[in-house]
Amino acid sequence: MKTLLIVYHSGGVKTAQMAAAVERGAKTEPGVRVVLKRCAEAGPEDVLAADGLILGTPENFGYMSGMMKDFLERIFYPCEGKVAGRPWALFVGAGQDGSGAVSSVERIVTGLRLKRVGDPVVVVKELKPEQIAALEELGAAMAAGLAAGIF
Ligand SMILES: Cc1cc2nc3c(=O)[nH]c(=O)nc-3n(C[C@H](O)[C@H](O)[C@H](O)COP(=O)(O)O)c2cc1C
Repeated sequence: MKTLLIVYHSGGVKTAQMAAAVERGAKTEPGVRVVLKRCAEAGPEDVLAADGLILGTPENFGYMSGMMKDFLERIFYPCEGKVAGRPWALFVGAGQDGSGAVSSVERIVTGLRLKRVGDPVVVVKELKPEQIAALEELGAAMAAGLAAGIF
């Protein structure tokens, strides 16, 4: 069975709600084990054991959250060269922008040579029903792709 790992940080509630929507969507695919962890709980062993990765972070000070950066710092060298080609996707909760979080995560993940699936889902201001649906779709699409072996 394939494993999909969702790793996120939320200093408030929004990015946590976004992560829950991604998880809900992913769990509609019965052939995939879905693991949801906060950045502080996740480490290289989780990433190495996963066939696909979805990251979620708020944008703080024009960058990813400090907890996401800490997670990426802890996993980078243990995972470098061992996860190339695996699919990954990104969601960002922001107050008014989000592009700094997107570019900062992308820059680091590029070094792991993961394969980006879909566009990042960026939610500015409050989470709307259509954005919840897009996040559920992100999780479902990633899980379906893993189950079908198309990534
Ligand atoms: C310390 C701090 C810095 C922030 N910096 C930015 C920023 O640079 N750009 C932005 O769009 N939103 C910024 N925000 C707003 C958060 O990204 C936004 O409220 C987000 O939804 C928080 O998600 P959370 O509820 O999961 O913590 C910042 C919030 C905090 C607390």
